[in-house]
Amino acid sequence: MDRKARERIVYAAVWLACLAPLLWLAWRGYAGELGANPIEAVIRKLGVWGLRLLLVGLAISPAARILRQPRLIRFRRTVGLFAFSYILLHLSTYIGVDQFFDWAAIGKDILKRPYITIGMAAFLLLTPLAATSFNGAVRRLGPKRWRRLHQLIYLIVPMGVVHYYLLVKADHRPPLIYGGIVAALLGWRLWAARKSA
Ligand code: HEM
Repeated sequence: MDRKARERIVYAAVWLACLAPLLWLAWRGYAGELGANPIEAVIRKLGVWGLRLLLVGLAISPAARILRQPRLIRFRRTVGLFAFSYILLHLSTYIGVDQFFDWAAIGKDILKRPYITIGMAAFLLLTPLAATSFNGAVRRLGPKRWRRLHQLIYLIVPMGVVHYYLLVKADHRPPLIYGGIVAALLGWRLWAARKSA
């Protein structure tokens, strides 16, 4: 098999892996297996997969360096765009299916519920990153400005974790575990930057 065909297979596998949670969720919904409150279940699953994919995206650079596989970097954009798509669906389900486009109630939620405020802020910060993830945007902004803009991800991912932490009522362990992983991934970057300075 030539290199191009191999690359295509790897890309297809990455796409499938990113799509699998959505297909699984759709299947469970179709089979009526989403429990007593399917809307809440859909919002939660989309949110948690959005967060997981953001973490996978953050893990790609350290993995590429540690495993000496620089080619892994090219999957960062695909994973990041899937993370954004899950979060966009998460937000859209909340707006359209949970709140029935009741903009007054949504506005009140944003102002009164800190977890919605921070989730919304994280989404607004994530949008320009998704919008500038294509090659033309790198050329237009210049690599320096593009890199600086995309460093916002180091703020957005912790905001996603805080959003999660604030909304859980009983067991805070899952968001704390995600927080620990984010701290390790960001800590590694600080360590690597200091080492190469
Ligand atoms: C970077 C952006 C965001 C991330 C990473 C994120 C992630 C999450 C996660 C991990 C959960 C909990 C899932 C679980 O319990 O298993 C969640 C729940 C939720 N999120 Fe987000 N979210 C984001 C943005 C937003 C936005 C913009 C809104 C709406 C304005 C929103 C509304 C909600 C709601 C309503 C829940 C469910 C709360 C409940 O069931 O009590 N999120 N989100």
